[in-house]
Amino acid sequence: MARARPQSVHVCQECGSTHPRWVGRCTSCGAWGSVTEEARVATLTRSPVAAARPVRLGDLSLAPAERIVTGVDELDRVLGGGLVPGSLVLIAGEPGIGKSTLVLQALAGISSSRKVLLVTGEESLAQVHARGARIAADTDAVAILAESQLEQVVDAIVEHEPAVCVVDSIQTLVCDTAEGTIGSVSQIRQATGALMRLAKEREVVIVLVGHVTKDGGLAGPRMLEHMVDCVVTFEGEEMRAHRVLRATKNRFGSINETGVLEMFPDGLVSVADPTGMFLAEVGERVGSCVFPVVQGSRAVLVEVQALVGQTEVVPPRRVAVGVDRTRLAQVIAVLSRHAGFRLGDQDVFVSVAGGARAVDPAADLAMALAIASAHRGTPLAPGSAAFGEIGLTGGVRPTGHWGRRLGAIGAHGLTMAVVPQMAGGHAEPPPTGVEISTVGDITQALAVACPR
Ligand SMILES: Nc1ncnc2c1ncn2[C@@H]1O[C@H](COP(=O)(O)OP(=O)(O)OP(=O)(O)O)[C@@H](O)[C@H]1O
Ligand SMILES: [Mg+2]
Repeated sequence: MARARPQSVHVCQECGSTHPRWVGRCTSCGAWGSVTEEARVATLTRSPVAAARPVRLGDLSLAPAERIVTGVDELDRVLGGGLVPGSLVLIAGEPGIGKSTLVLQALAGISSSRKVLLVTGEESLAQVHARGARIAADTDAVAILAESQLEQVVDAIVEHEPAVCVVDSIQTLVCDTAEGTIGSVSQIRQATGALMRLAKEREVVIVLVGHVTKDGGLAGPRMLEHMVDCVVTFEGEEMRAHRVLRATKNRFGSINETGVLEMFPDGLVSVADPTGMFLAEVGERVGSCVFPVVQGSRAVLVEVQALVGQTEVVPPRRVAVGVDRTRLAQVIAVLSRHAGFRLGDQDVFVSVAGGARAVDPAADLAMALAIASAHRGTPLAPGSAAFGEIGLTGGVRPTGHWGRRLGAIGAHGLTMAVVPQMAGGHAEPPPTGVEISTVGDITQALAVACPR
């Protein structure tokens, strides 16, 4: 006799994997005490109503929907030009980073031409009102609902018909029909699923605010990231006023764009040219090299810094902050093997100032020159910047975005660029006032920028 299928299933609240029986520790993600029992969803059978009909793409004549511009320039840039109607967007950030401020400013910007709704499950109307009064944007037309019941929120969206609705935050929504406590996997899955359907059906943009935990992961399940169309992370350093927006997933645009904003008492201000912020302290200093990093459609100058010193541990430390660890190890190996540097008993720290990131291979040359400068105790040639990928043979290889990188170097008054040779010559003329030093390998680069 066939055994009846069990009516319940055990689901890990951390990673969402299912187990046939209860276990104390999830075998998938290793979390303890995260597995809880949930009712099994009934097996699908053929629907008695007519089958859904697919359509040929060529038969569709849909004009691309016009994007909704928020007026927060850096947010619009990261989204790829504004919000796409009918999309579900997640804005994730650590507590206190400024998520509520960002969404209120965006809603204020949109509210001049469209209906908007802010659902706050975390703050009282008085708190939101106080923020609205503090920030410079005109928030008068922003409709607010202090509610955490999913069903009520859905009804409010259906009734109010906003073009954009923000839910602050997804972790505070409560869904009566789902198992688990507030913020648990099943609650978040149910709430996000319902809001996703609503967004598609009603062509309303729904923006979810999500908290991230201390280790940078999204609080709650990773499946939230799979369900939404865009994930925008909002990061910053506690001691600095600037905040960085990045799209880690975007179904409607590039994920290379970076938005920089600065927090002031009256709200967040977009920083159109972040170079000044990342290069604030640059000067003729030992262990410092300027690098033009390409972020989506613009190049930004950042400072790659290195510190080299006698180690007290074996093996010596190799610490990479904002640069790629593996590429750092490779650059150190190339400097040792092809340029005669003795780094085997030296700690090497490399970091990008200001919390910026320079993970592309073109940062190799800047890392190498910063390390060389730190090791030799001499600053690089004044007003210089460098980019180029370093191969294992010590050769400096061409990289993309030659013109854009040189443009940024020229625009900020630097006078010398140490760059790779380009196969077939350079398409664009270099900016005036910048001396171009073309180098073929690491020893030539050192001879030009950091002579002994
Ligand atoms: N009166 C004020 N003057 C200046 N800056 C302020 C003021 N009040 C708040 N801020 C800034 O706003 C930040 C908090 O912004 P916001 O509430 O938007 O963050 P959040 O990410 O939504 O936080 P939470 O995780 O608590 O929801 C603070 O860290 C601070 O930098
Ligand atoms: Mg908040």
